[in-house]
Amino acid sequence: MDEKQDLARFKPAGLLHGADYSPEQWLDEPDVLKEDVRLMQQASCNVMAVGIFAWSALEREEGVFTFGWLDETLDRLAAGGLRVWLATPSGARPPWLAAQYPEVMRVGPDRVRRLFGIRHNHCCTSPVYRQKVAEINGRLAERYARHPAVLGWHVSNEYGGECHCDLCQDAFRHWLQARYGSLDALNKAWWTAFWSRTYTDWRQIESLAPHGEHILHGMNLDWRRFVTDSTVDFCLHEIAPLRQANPELPVTTNMMGLYDGLDYRRFAPHLDVLSWDSYPAWHEKTDDSEAALAVSFQHDLFRSMKGRPFVLMESTPSTTNWQPASKLKRPGMHRLSSLQAVAHGADAVQYFQWRKSRGASEKFHGAVVDHAGRDDTRVFREVAELGSALKRLTAVAGAGTKAEAAILFDWDNKWAVENAQGPRNGGLHYEETLYAHYRPFWQHGVAVDVAGADADFSAYRLIVAPMLYLCREETAAKLERFVETGGVLVVTYWSGIVDASDLCYTGGFPGPLRKLLGVWAEEIDGLQDGEANTVSLLDGNGLGLSGEYACSELCERIHPEGAETLAVYKEDFYAGMPVLTVNRRGQGSAYYLAARMEEAFHEAFYAALMNTAGLRRAIGNRLPDGVTAQVRANGAEEYVFLLNFNKEKRRVTLAGPACRDVETGLEVEAGLFWLDGYEARVLSRPRRLTGSMPDMP
Ligand code: GLA
Ligand code: ZN
Repeated sequence: MDEKQDLARFKPAGLLHGADYSPEQWLDEPDVLKEDVRLMQQASCNVMAVGIFAWSALEREEGVFTFGWLDETLDRLAAGGLRVWLATPSGARPPWLAAQYPEVMRVGPDRVRRLFGIRHNHCCTSPVYRQKVAEINGRLAERYARHPAVLGWHVSNEYGGECHCDLCQDAFRHWLQARYGSLDALNKAWWTAFWSRTYTDWRQIESLAPHGEHILHGMNLDWRRFVTDSTVDFCLHEIAPLRQANPELPVTTNMMGLYDGLDYRRFAPHLDVLSWDSYPAWHEKTDDSEAALAVSFQHDLFRSMKGRPFVLMESTPSTTNWQPASKLKRPGMHRLSSLQAVAHGADAVQYFQWRKSRGASEKFHGAVVDHAGRDDTRVFREVAELGSALKRLTAVAGAGTKAEAAILFDWDNKWAVENAQGPRNGGLHYEETLYAHYRPFWQHGVAVDVAGADADFSAYRLIVAPMLYLCREETAAKLERFVETGGVLVVTYWSGIVDASDLCYTGGFPGPLRKLLGVWAEEIDGLQDGEANTVSLLDGNGLGLSGEYACSELCERIHPEGAETLAVYKEDFYAGMPVLTVNRRGQGSAYYLAARMEEAFHEAFYAALMNTAGLRRAIGNRLPDGVTAQVRANGAEEYVFLLNFNKEKRRVTLAGPACRDVETGLEVEAGLFWLDGYEARVLSRPRRLTGSMPDMP
């Protein structure tokens, strides 16, 4: 795709505010539909996602199309000043389609074809499903691609899952043929001599099954890659008629955070803007910062994947109806969590759902408009207040984020690391590890990209690679160049273990990273829950660190091969062996952390590295626990988002020049000021184009 054209496609004039809207559930209540527009205006909404599950309403019987209600909806919304993400309806098919063409229904890993029901359960390979989808999408495109209300396409809904039907089995075999060329190559990559699995005919290969094959790790990885590729291909098939009708309209599909089933990076180049659905369990724990941290990381991921603003397509205005407890967002949390998305790069805050349905499985899911249909509810008020705030923040739309630090995250590594048996089946905690390494940056207000191995590393000064278990030779070579040209790299235990086929590197771990890190990881100890070892910092470690810290869960026994030892284990039979090392290479440094460390260590270690690498902190210093600051910049202005995830107020120290509160226009002088519990503030200041802001003493 032409990148320039791509950039031109999604550029809203201000921040978007809206919700998934299902008028098809209310067609026999025209007053409700009219009232909806009035309420949308009152809530300062400017966009609705329409038609997501409307296939039945659009094509009640095969070939019998009823677009009248959608014509009216779009016209009514346009007249009310609202724009529309128009959805393709492939996320759920009508009963006639499943009855007439059973092949469209998915076959489970148990090889049982699903009966008609629920949603998100079609076969991506089925030619009939593809044809029916192409037809309805083509008709929608022909009719609405130039409708003034339509802002862009919302393709399908939360692609996910997998199908094991005969068509998909054949498609998998073809995919494997294209990847490996020969069975010999496949047998080698999958290590099939193990337990007598050497394939001699492509037809012998069957996808994973609980009652069949699932122990070949290379095959498991390839299956996930195949499912991703076939879903991307289906998505492209959906997009083709849309782009044909109007190449200028942006296209997105809503994603689900770190959802395990698909490698979202493979979708990114094909979409004009990325969007995702965020449902953290606020207030599940007494400390909301843990949930906040995970969400911030995911927002960063969606911004980093295209290096530009994204859309928060769904969030709840109040509660979900599927978490163990449907806890209401405490007053203030709605504004806070919404501005959190904007802080990390969202140009839209949207909800599931506009109005609560009267029946079926989501009738108790939070909505802007409750069953009471009133505008004087707490939730409506908070939504309307946020809508006004987003208007005051119009200038933020399109603003970029400049991250000088990156955390590496790739889906194939996640799949491989979680698939491996040993060294700690009781919990490797890969995601938690990502968040643990992300936390110090979040606390210091240092912007972080969540980058894939394919990213351009030269954009960064510091790269953290937590558990880079699957590490390609190319990735290691790129990291070597990164360090040699002055980068600071941190790699942890359980890295450089397998290649792209999930085959272990021979000759010593961390495999292709061994030379760069200057260590050999001989073996790894999986500790029981509750067990710990102690790590002692050596004098003169160069980072100004001292004292002792606890480590747990995974402890490697490593040998320096050129690296300098900065900290050692104090206990057990490997007492005295290194835990933290540094290898100076070229202009840069490569640190290796051999054990899972407690939070206090990460805090001290990364604070030191932020200074070494000269990373810029949003307000010049570390923020109180549970408070973060994030910066977006537009033209000559910089916007600083201050977010307090504590129930109680916290004091922050603003370094540097005076700022202006974007919403009130009032000046905020440098120095101390208070953030209320769950408060979010947005300040502006002139943009600093160059130079970093080290920590204030
Ligand atoms: C998902 C779906 C929505 C709705 C919400 C409920 O994100 O896309 O249709 O079911 O969950 O939280
Ligand atoms: Zn199938």
